[in-house]
Amino acid sequence: MRIYIETYGCQMNMADSEIVASILKHEGYDLVTDLNKADIIFINTCSIRDNAEQRVIKRISELDALRKKKHWLKIGILGCMAERMQDSLIKTHNVDLVVGPDSYRDIPRLLSSQGEGCGDLISTELSETETYSEIYPAKINSNGVTAFIPIMRGCENFCSYCVVPYTRGKERSRDFRTIVNEAEKLFSQGYKEVTLLGQNVNSYLWNQGEKDEVNFAKLISLVAEIDPLLRVRFSTSHPKDISQELLDTIANYDNICKFIHLPLQSGSNRILRLMNRKYTVEEYLDKINRIKRTIQNCSISTDIISGFCTESIEDHESTLNIMKEVCYDSAFMFKYSERPNTLAAKKYKDDVSDCEKTRRLEEIINLQRELSFQSNKQDIGKTFEVLIEGESKRSTDKLLGRNSQNKVILFDKKDFQPGQYVKIKVNDCTSATLFGETVS
Ligand code: SAH
Ligand code: SF4
Ligand code: F3S
Repeated sequence: MRIYIETYGCQMNMADSEIVASILKHEGYDLVTDLNKADIIFINTCSIRDNAEQRVIKRISELDALRKKKHWLKIGILGCMAERMQDSLIKTHNVDLVVGPDSYRDIPRLLSSQGEGCGDLISTELSETETYSEIYPAKINSNGVTAFIPIMRGCENFCSYCVVPYTRGKERSRDFRTIVNEAEKLFSQGYKEVTLLGQNVNSYLWNQGEKDEVNFAKLISLVAEIDPLLRVRFSTSHPKDISQELLDTIANYDNICKFIHLPLQSGSNRILRLMNRKYTVEEYLDKINRIKRTIQNCSISTDIISGFCTESIEDHESTLNIMKEVCYDSAFMFKYSERPNTLAAKKYKDDVSDCEKTRRLEEIINLQRELSFQSNKQDIGKTFEVLIEGESKRSTDKLLGRNSQNKVILFDKKDFQPGQYVKIKVNDCTSATLFGETVS
């Protein structure tokens, strides 16, 4: 049986697809990179916003058309939509299999019992303990240089707009030894950068209260000590939990990247309270100041939501003001999308019109473009150590790499190879990219 996996959503989903691939390979299934050669197509899905779900629904109907020509083809839905929509995916969208994020070990059983014509179609029980701890992922579409390592699963923050606590269940941390082993193995296979993943990595905690308790600052230092040539990144930090101990650890290790993604969501205290973010703008700015004081040349990115329930023009302007004050190097920006059964859907009215949400989002995006451009212009003339990830998509005679600050830098290929570190002097930029040349 040949399997094809298509992944939507966040980095956690990318990592999960590699876990699924590993489980299935172990059971003798072949992984293919050409969808047309597959007997089973899995779609690993995202529920974060309505448009993410609509894309998948459209994709399912395209694949359904393929199944009409290839009647043995099976379509399986994994990930957050599987968890959120359960058997309605089978009833309404006619898929063959629905498997939630904590049930991936169950896939071989479901597939083989289906083959016998008598199996369940659905497995979506959430777990309080599953971390797929010992599973070494089978890489899919990997560049051979950078890899993700999930260090925890679930989220219990219950931000009022967010579906993740419902689709991913309780927060749990993975055994630190298996994380360090995985990073060591990746490094020995030639990988040069790992990103430690969790919805809120700062609350990582292994063996709470025990002698060998490991928190996130300790974990990241253990990974950084594997080798100075292994870069370490992490995502995401919740502002309420980012500790001085972590900031000191980042400052102490050259190979822990000087880049922190710290989602703000809104610059208005009233909206932050409705969002149940558990910090005020003042507390957030205090964290930003600590980052800037503790870590030299640290770049900062964020997430912003426009048009949350009851957001006024003044609230929106507060967000623009905080963006200017922090001067983010980059940002992900979204229109608020009401998710069924979340606290916001139950308690608040989604009362900013779509057209107004779009207008505010455009203002946010335009401002961020300017801020990113300003930040990039300040890098002109500076020299950075860059890890080469591969060829530029636009031009085959250019290579693409990133500096510690997570900025993309393009430069002439010459004889350089992916996985090498090179020193690049920046000589030009746009708001999205730096351009430079190698210096010896
Ligand atoms: N756990 C991470 C990221 C979760 S999802 C964190 O807390 O930072 C990534 C981003 O999607 C969020 O930071 C938020 O900005 C956005 N998002 C989540 N739910 C949303 C919704 N219902 N509508 C619009 N954007 C949303
Ligand atoms: Fe969602 Fe908030 Fe958890 Fe992030 S921290 S996943 S936004 S509930
Ligand atoms: Fe989407 Fe689930 Fe990730 S909702 S953002 S795939 S945790």
